[in-house]
Amino acid sequence: MPKKSTVFFCSECGFESAKWLGQCPGCKSWNTFVEEPVRETQKVPGAVRKPGAGRRTASSLGEISLEDRDRLPSGMAELDRVLGGGIVQGSLVLVGGDPGIGKSTILLQVCRSLAERGTKVLYISGEESLKQIKMRAVRLGAFAGDVRMAAETNLADIRELIEAEKPEVVVVDSIQTLYREDVSGAPGSVSQVRECANVLLQVAKTEGIAVFLVGHVTKEGTVAGPRVLEHMVDTVLYFEGDRSQTYRLIRAVKNRFGATNEVGVFEMTAAGLAEVTNPSDYLVTGRPEDASGSALSCVMEGTRPMLMEVQALVCRTAFGLPRRTAVGIDLNRVNLLTAVLEKRGGLSLASYDVYVSITGGMRISDPSMDLAVLLALVSGYFDIPLSGKNIAFGEAGLAGEIRGVSNVNARVKEAVRLGYTQAVIPRASMHNVEKEYRPYCIPVSTVREAIRLLPGGNPREGAREG
Ligand code: TYD
Ligand code: MG
Repeated sequence: MPKKSTVFFCSECGFESAKWLGQCPGCKSWNTFVEEPVRETQKVPGAVRKPGAGRRTASSLGEISLEDRDRLPSGMAELDRVLGGGIVQGSLVLVGGDPGIGKSTILLQVCRSLAERGTKVLYISGEESLKQIKMRAVRLGAFAGDVRMAAETNLADIRELIEAEKPEVVVVDSIQTLYREDVSGAPGSVSQVRECANVLLQVAKTEGIAVFLVGHVTKEGTVAGPRVLEHMVDTVLYFEGDRSQTYRLIRAVKNRFGATNEVGVFEMTAAGLAEVTNPSDYLVTGRPEDASGSALSCVMEGTRPMLMEVQALVCRTAFGLPRRTAVGIDLNRVNLLTAVLEKRGGLSLASYDVYVSITGGMRISDPSMDLAVLLALVSGYFDIPLSGKNIAFGEAGLAGEIRGVSNVNARVKEAVRLGYTQAVIPRASMHNVEKEYRPYCIPVSTVREAIRLLPGGNPREGAREG
């Protein structure tokens, strides 16, 4: 029988199979198998170690020392925060995001600021020519330090280059353009991406070089190529935000050296990405005054509280079936909250279309947003604007109860800092609020209680109390 010359890989998790499969047994995703040429395994000389040769020793935890030099500041406090306090030497960081969102821009800015402080950096681009990078650099303004550049895609050449240049930080833009000659498959294929990342991992770990890998994302929003890439690296940063809007969020989805879900907020300007140090202010400016259907909430993005606006439009449906639309928040959550309002709040929304949107293009999955969504819906339904000076947060339960949330004090503090004088919060969380901030809080325990806070927002008679 002739030897099989192709093999199938799951493009999600890298699962290998001899034949095509509809569903991946590894990650259970459908229709992800891609065919790739089989790779001959090469015998690496010395791979099989003789017994006793080069015996390894273990160290005790107390003996391992940490130095300050182990973390390099990236030059942007927002990025340092996401990285957990700076760039860790010998770390492998994956930076993912939609095309054109600013991956190359931010990494070039990081290179510039590192070089200015005397760190040796090497920027390897497989996508753009040196001229194109230069054009971007010109847009960013003056470069005082020496940023070394190379346009390379062959991994062997890149290794040689790294050996010759001896940089402390390397940027590879992007992992999907690299290839290894000894690995079959086109650049960007599952096996190429995996094997190239593996080599760069070795480089990072053995030589103590911090390596940034740019990764393209698929339609589904994950880094193209195998998910194993995410397992392999130390830190995964994702760019979020809309390309059509100027702000960008960088979120740490995974971080071996810091908190996950930490976000940094940036704004795309004519001269690169600028840090937004006060995102709450940024997100709520331009809020319409005296408009019904708008409510403010304070959600936790990583360890930082951020004020956010939710808007709801409730209008009579023109067709038999009411429409439910959500932007920036899970539609199922909105459906659930409308059902809670219907059953526990006494509002009849069956003949109303409901549109809910988080402004500023943010995407929220924190359930503490529930109370603000409920209040925005009620305000929109009765066409009564909420007071411009209050915020609300709390998770809603199906019984119509408002449940306690985390970091209550930090949220109230942030609201007060920005001049808001009333915070509608879950009664269960009241004991977590410091004395100083208690006068600002209005505790509620049910949806109905929250609705009564609205001027004229009395729930109809007949509905059962939640
Ligand atoms: P880029 O960083 O190349 O995105 P990626 O590497 O993620 O594909 O480009 C980001 C976009 O930002 C691009 O459309 C041009 C724009 N831009 C600015 O608005 N200002 C700038 O200073 C720069 C360099 C780019
Ligand atoms: Mg780019």
